[in-house]
Amino acid sequence: MSPQVLCRRGFLVSERYSTRCNPMMVGRGKRPAVMVRAGVVESLIKPITTLGKVADLKSGIATFYDESSELWEKMWGEHMHHGYYPKGAPPKGNQQAQIDMIEESLKVAGVTAVRNMVDVGCGIGGSSRYLSRKFGCRSSGITLSPKQAARATAISQAEGFGDKLSFQVADALAQPFESASFDLVWSMESGEHMPDKRRFVSELARVCAPGGVVIVVTWCHRVLAPGEVALRSEEEALLDRICEAYYLPAWCSVADYQQLFEDNGLVDIQTRDWSEEVSPFWGAVIATALTSEGVVGLLRAGWTTIKGALVMPLMAEGFRRGLIKFNVITGRKPAAPS
Ligand SMILES: C[S@@+](CC[C@H](N)C(=O)[O-])C[C@H]1O[C@@H](n2cnc3c(N)ncnc32)[C@H](O)[C@@H]1O
Repeated sequence: MSPQVLCRRGFLVSERYSTRCNPMMVGRGKRPAVMVRAGVVESLIKPITTLGKVADLKSGIATFYDESSELWEKMWGEHMHHGYYPKGAPPKGNQQAQIDMIEESLKVAGVTAVRNMVDVGCGIGGSSRYLSRKFGCRSSGITLSPKQAARATAISQAEGFGDKLSFQVADALAQPFESASFDLVWSMESGEHMPDKRRFVSELARVCAPGGVVIVVTWCHRVLAPGEVALRSEEEALLDRICEAYYLPAWCSVADYQQLFEDNGLVDIQTRDWSEEVSPFWGAVIATALTSEGVVGLLRAGWTTIKGALVMPLMAEGFRRGLIKFNVITGRKPAAPS
């Protein structure tokens, strides 16, 4: 097990893979000085997002999704992730872009058939239903949010999936599954919430059956340049604000994920940087939030969701600066020797 340190915001992270959390800068309960350059959005958000330290990451994530999922579903549908909008392609709707994100991720890993999958951080089950329709597979979804698990179950029952799909509240870092259970281990935009990336990837590899595939689609920070030991302080400050609003612990880079995949014995590792391909997404989310339905929905959903909405421009800013990256990492567990 790698050494653990407390991130500046108090969450447990793996020291080796944290480039943002310099243990020398950690002060339990103390917030660092904010060093982000003054900007309209940032100065608006700063006093809001620095009101207090998030005490408990897991319960924060659960509450965040309990409170915000209904509005997201109403405005965007069953998929709670970025869309894939390649440059030069004809314009397409956001929901189609989200489906394309799933399809493109499968292509990276070369997945053409699935029998039994786990949907790690399943939201309201959009990926499970899509992939079950496509491949006829079973899926077991886990989320920290009781409301998401209930909603995922309700939609899937109503759509006639019967016992093919199941959803429960469980932690991705201690999955309630036997080892080697699934031929597809799927994590669509949940990795960024994981406070211990090493344990996260080791759980993904553990539940993957020999010959099976692990797909992680996630937010990362940029890969550090040679000689750099951490992000610049103004970059860390920007990520801190996003972390607080979206209940995220320390980030890592795609290179860190690649190393973790290798350390866990996964092979045929592929990575992609789709930061360009997702670039229209945050503008589209902000546009929906600014409709009258969006504004009313935000007010109804409450403060946690409003805080998330206020931080959206910072996500766009992070992508623009080249600080935030949208990455795919896939790998295969070697088949058992015959
Ligand atoms: C942005 S949503 C993505 C949902 C879904 N994958 C999709 O694409 O529609 C992030 C999901 O990760 C889940 N999550 C975050 N941390 C988790 C953890 N430690 N264990 C299980 N699920 C977690 C959240 O509950 C939420 O369902």
